[in-house]
Amino acid sequence: MSILEAIQNTGFADWMRVSEWGYPIILTLHSIGLAMVVGVLFVIDLRILGVPRSLPILPLRQLMTLVWLGFVLNLITGLCLFSADAVKFFESPTFRFKLASVFAGVGLAVFLSSSVLGVGDKFDRREAVIPARAKVFASLSLLMWLAAICLGRYVAYE
Ligand code: HEM
Repeated sequence: MSILEAIQNTGFADWMRVSEWGYPIILTLHSIGLAMVVGVLFVIDLRILGVPRSLPILPLRQLMTLVWLGFVLNLITGLCLFSADAVKFFESPTFRFKLASVFAGVGLAVFLSSSVLGVGDKFDRREAVIPARAKVFASLSLLMWLAAICLGRYVAYE
């Protein structure tokens, strides 16, 4: 038996499949985690792109705690959902692309939070010029999270 089969044969995975509330509750928590991560990162990415320029950047750094809490929630709930049908999810290219988008998005968030949010009030004023590289990464970040959401939703219909 492969590791994936062993995972989907555990008592927990069985409960996720047969319980009336197990899957829906975990999926709802997954959506709440998604809102925490993507909600905050969308605002930060748009601000890096200059929308709106009047919004100070420094206080946004405090919201990164919410992003990391949401990410931990999604990692845990994502693994629970995965366990219910591990072989199918693992073999799905859509699921793999979704995970790749998530981890690329996390990498970009780490980079942007240290290079733009983590440099004091350097970029706070509306006249401050944010480096083009940061803007490219912020655009990529928006793209990665949109992809993660669309691909995550699509997996349900495969
Ligand atoms: C912040 C990061 C993440 C985002 C934005 C995200 C997004 C989504 C979305 C939009 C869905 C569809 C929800 C629905 O059908 O109503 C979903 C489902 C799912 N996600 Fe995530 N996800 C994230 C992290 C993860 C991680 C890290 C894992 C695995 C370790 C994971 C595994 C799953 C699984 C297995 C499903 C269920 C698909 C189904 O029921 O067909 N997710 N995710």
